[in-house]
This record gives sequence, C-alpha cells and structure tokens, in this order.
Amino acid sequence: MAEHIETLLKTSALYHPDERTVARAYIKDYDAAYRESIADPEQFWDGVARELEWFSPWHTVLEWKYPWAKWFLGGTCNITYNCLDRHVRSWRTNKVAVIWVGERGEERIFTYAELYRQVNRCANALKRLGMKQGDRVTIYLPKIPEQIIAMLACARLGLIHSVVYSGFSAPALESRIRDAEARLAITADYGYDRGTAIPLKPVVDKAAARCPTIEKIIVVRREKPGITLDAGRELDWDAWLEGQSAACDAVPLDAETPLYFLYTSGTTGKPKGVVHVHGGYMVGTYITAKYVFDLKDEDVYFCVADPGWVTGHSYIVYGPLLNGATILTAEGKPDYPTPARWWELIEKYGVSIFYTTPTAIRLLMKYGDDWPGRHDLSTLRILGSVGEPINPEAWEWFHRVTGGDKPIMDTWWQTETGSILVTPLPCVSLKPGSATRPFLGIEADVVDKQGRSIGTGGGFAVIKKPWPSMMRTIHNDPDRYLGYWNNIPGCYTAGDVCHKDADGYFWFMGRADDVVKVAGNRIGTAEVESALVSHEAVVEAAVIGKPHRTAGEMIKAFVILKQGHLETPELIDDLKRHVQTELGKIAMPREIEVVTSLPKTRSGKIMRRVLKAKELGQDPGDISTLEE
Ligand code: WTA
Repeated sequence: MAEHIETLLKTSALYHPDERTVARAYIKDYDAAYRESIADPEQFWDGVARELEWFSPWHTVLEWKYPWAKWFLGGTCNITYNCLDRHVRSWRTNKVAVIWVGERGEERIFTYAELYRQVNRCANALKRLGMKQGDRVTIYLPKIPEQIIAMLACARLGLIHSVVYSGFSAPALESRIRDAEARLAITADYGYDRGTAIPLKPVVDKAAARCPTIEKIIVVRREKPGITLDAGRELDWDAWLEGQSAACDAVPLDAETPLYFLYTSGTTGKPKGVVHVHGGYMVGTYITAKYVFDLKDEDVYFCVADPGWVTGHSYIVYGPLLNGATILTAEGKPDYPTPARWWELIEKYGVSIFYTTPTAIRLLMKYGDDWPGRHDLSTLRILGSVGEPINPEAWEWFHRVTGGDKPIMDTWWQTETGSILVTPLPCVSLKPGSATRPFLGIEADVVDKQGRSIGTGGGFAVIKKPWPSMMRTIHNDPDRYLGYWNNIPGCYTAGDVCHKDADGYFWFMGRADDVVKVAGNRIGTAEVESALVSHEAVVEAAVIGKPHRTAGEMIKAFVILKQGHLETPELIDDLKRHVQTELGKIAMPREIEVVTSLPKTRSGKIMRRVLKAKELGQDPGDISTLEE
C-alpha cells in the first residue's frame, strides 16, 4: 500500500481549473478563503448561519465541552422552513424542486410549491396519528418521492426520522426499529431492481411483528390493484393524505433538536444510530452543497445516491433543497435497462452537476466509451465522487468521457460528519485520487497514534475542532460517541488511513478499522460475522474486505464449521443465503472459505489484519500478540 501511494504521488497529474469555472465560482481563491475561515472558525460558521432564516437568533455560536458540542445556542429554527418556506415565499415557488424518474421510466415533477403542499399534507396526517415532537418514524421506502416527503414532514414537526435502506432484510430492519423505538413505519408494496419487483411490505411485517412500539404502518401502493392491508393497523399512503390540509407551519425548534437517526456500521455487531440535529446540520449541508458544487439557480443537480444512506440525506434532500436547487433523482441501477441510463438522463434533463460514486464509474467504465459517447453531455459543468477512494484510472475515464474539462469534486466525509469535510472546490487544482484539502472552517489533519501531525506521509485522518454538522451522539450509546474522540488525544478520529503529500493534499486510503466498503456501502465485519455464527453449521467466523475491481472491496468470510457439518457447495450457498436473510444482499460474502482455526491474540480477539495480509500475500506486520 505504502509503495503504491508513493508511485501514485510521483506520477499524479495536476489538473488546473479553467478560467471560466473559477470566474463563476462562489469561492475563487481557496487558500485565502480557507485561511480566513480557520483564523476564526466560529465567526465563519456564524456568517454561514446568517445566510439562512431562523425563528430566533442564537446567543452563542458554539459551546464546546470536550467532546460534546452544541451549536447556535438559543437559536430556534426548522430545517424544512429553509428547505421549503424560504423558497415558496420567493420567485422559486414555481421552480422545479425535484424531478423523479422511476425505474420503469415514470416521471414525477414537483415544484417547490407542490413539494411544500405534499410535505404539509403528510405532516398534518402525522399529527392526526398523534405523533409528537421527539417521536421516531422509521422510513423503509424505495427511492420514490414519498421518501423525501416523509422525511421532510417528520422534520417539520420535530419528529425524528430514521431512514433504513430498503435493501436491508427483516432482522436488520427490526434491530433499527427497536433501537429507535419507532412508533410508525412508512413503507411501500414494492421496490424495483433491474425490472424485478421486490416485495418490501413482508419485510416490514416480519420486523414489526417483533417490535411492540410500532403502532401503525403506512404503505405506498405502487402496484394496482393494491396489496391488501390490515384495516386497523395499516394505512394506504394516498388515503392517509386525502383531505389533509396543504398548510402546516414548521414547528420552531431549538437548534439542537434531533433531526434524524441514521444507522451505520462500526466495529461491533450492533449498528449505531448516528444523531444529527436541525441547526448545525442545516448550516453544514447548506454551505457545502453551495460551495463544493457551486450550486446556482440555473443548475440541474443529479445525485445518484439513495436517501437510505447519508449521501442521500445530505446531498439529495437537505443540502440541495436548502439552496433552492433543482434536483434530479432516479430509481434504479446505472446499467439498467442499458449502460446509457444515466447519460440519457443527463442529456434529457440538461444536468449540470453530477454527483456519483467510484463503484458506479468503474461499472460504467467496463461498458466502454461508446455509451457516454452517444450522448450530449455538454450541459455538465461540475462532477462529484463520494463513498470510497477513487482510483486514478476511473477518475481519468470519468473526466475524459464527460468532455475532459469538468472538475471532479472528490468529496470525503462520513455519516458521522453529516457534511463534506475534505474536498476540492471548483477553483482548486486537482490530483486524480486525492480529495485535496479541507473544506472551509474545517481543521483536518493526518496524525500518528499519539495525535502528532505527521507533516507529510501516512497516518490517521482526524478533525481537530468541532464543526456544526458533526453528529451529537450515538442514540442509546454515548460511550460509542466518546470512542471517536478518545481514540487519538484531542481529535475526532475518522477511522480512515490517509496520506498527506507535500502540497497538503489528502489521499484517503481506506478504513483503519473493521469496516468494509462494498460498493461504497459501509458494512461492519462484526455484523457479517454474527450473522454467520447464527447459522447452525458455524462455530466461528472472521470477515475481511478484499479488493474488488468494480465494487472497491468485497466481503470474504472464513468460517469454522461445527462438528458433524461438512463443507459442500450447498452449505456454502446456504451460508451466503443466510447472511442475505439476516442482513441483506449488500452484506452477502462473495467468498467463503472453511478453515480449522483462526489467528487470534492471546486474549482471544480474531486478528483480521493477519487473515487479510495472508489473503493478499502481504506482510502481516507486527504479529507479536498472535497466539500461534
Ligand atoms: C469512505 C459516506 C475516500 C471513508 C459519505 C469514510 C471515502 C467512509 C470518500 C464513510 C472519499 C467516503 N475518498 N474514502 N471521497 N468518501 N469515504 O459513513 O472510508 O457511508 O470513513 O459516508 O467512506 O462512509 P459513510
């Protein structure tokens, strides 16, 4: 890895932004803007917050009692007021807010006024059910507009939404509903995946049957005739909204009021509910969406994420809406029905900003240049990448097929950080594979285990000061929150290994912990291991991430079988299916190897690092703690 990065640094090309891009960008001189922002970060964030509307002003920008932060104390706001009302009361009222394209080619368009009315109807319907501020709502929907409407409707009332990606299976959904103690679940009859209808309602039924807190289930019925619903407990979405008033005031909330929980994987089997709040999160997502993508009123902004993940929360829903943007969102895979899917959409809707992932780029790259080549992509002006390191080959391809002159914003951030922290701005010179430098107001660094800055070289990515959109805690588990700040003294530890070059550019190289990034999705090895050992044939399991050409990483599992169970192809298939049932398709190991022992420390901890080094034919490093 170290050698690889050295050659990368030596050979990497430098792309300077063209004059036009710089001239029209909000930020024209990164160095000057960064220096100023960092001289007094609180003043910088105070200025950003003033660009938005508050019901009452804050008296203190930041209260920092290490490692607990509160931002904009005394201020009251509601993120949806800034996403909707602010625009509805301006000329933007009839501007298109969301263009949604379904997998089967359906199109639904919402102006700001229409989105506002739908959100209000949904909020009123939530009120009718007796939902009160602080109550939790689990949203388990495919990528349809109702997902966005439901999120905003919750936020409008100060309810906390917990969106669960609709690819998760019933046990995974159940644990998330349980931890959040949700009173309500919102789902759909089906999601679509490459033309196949995937039933979602049975997943919710199975999970909800074991979650006594769930009082009602709302179902968006996409297929006609609709699936049957239980008359007492289940409600059809359309019927639920029917007759509801299109007016509903946004509830003024203290800036620190929780906006959502989003469950993400870590180093233990239990997913963690990252908590974000109205005020700071609003400020962080607003300004990053604005400056990183240079978001202007005339843009059509296309982000390919699913609101089931944080990128969808921050950069499909909140960040762009806060900026009054026109957002394109499309259900389905990039290569279905053909690998031209996204290129067609870009041409058809005149997309100017396109935010995607390295996995998708590598997938499309496999299909060759012809597909993008057949489409007019000249409306594009800013590109983005997120979720995992982008290899220079994929970067160069993406850059070339989109015209060779559009800057790529390689944005580094996390569910926990809420918004983008290390990233180019359109005025910054780019090196393919590098997320370049910290966003304004963010003090990021690369340090050793003791927290000493390494200057240039490899180490751990950290953030040295609090920032507004940082998570406030882990729901039900403040100790795990403390863990982020206790690991390396004085810093927030991101869990990423990173290399900093002589120009101060950051090169994120992957996770330092037991998290695997499969197609940009975060999977905890511990979660997959516990799913495996819940199978009757498995006594012990260890899971590692292994490089994969398209997905970045894939899951490989090593298992020890219980006596009496034999390794057969059927058993291996059954184990894979079992993980899919327990967690979902995204967590299914691609390879499973039966072994008779696993490398462990004397205290019994599995050394996944050793397994990984062996698998990849690398030096395992320090193995002095290895038992055998
Ligand atoms: C990885 C996704 C390299 C990183 C927004 C981080 C990246 C984890 C990049 C968070 C990038 C995200 N370059 N690595 N541009 N962006 N990562 O919570 O390992 O799903 O810690 O948030 O993704 O994943 P999460």
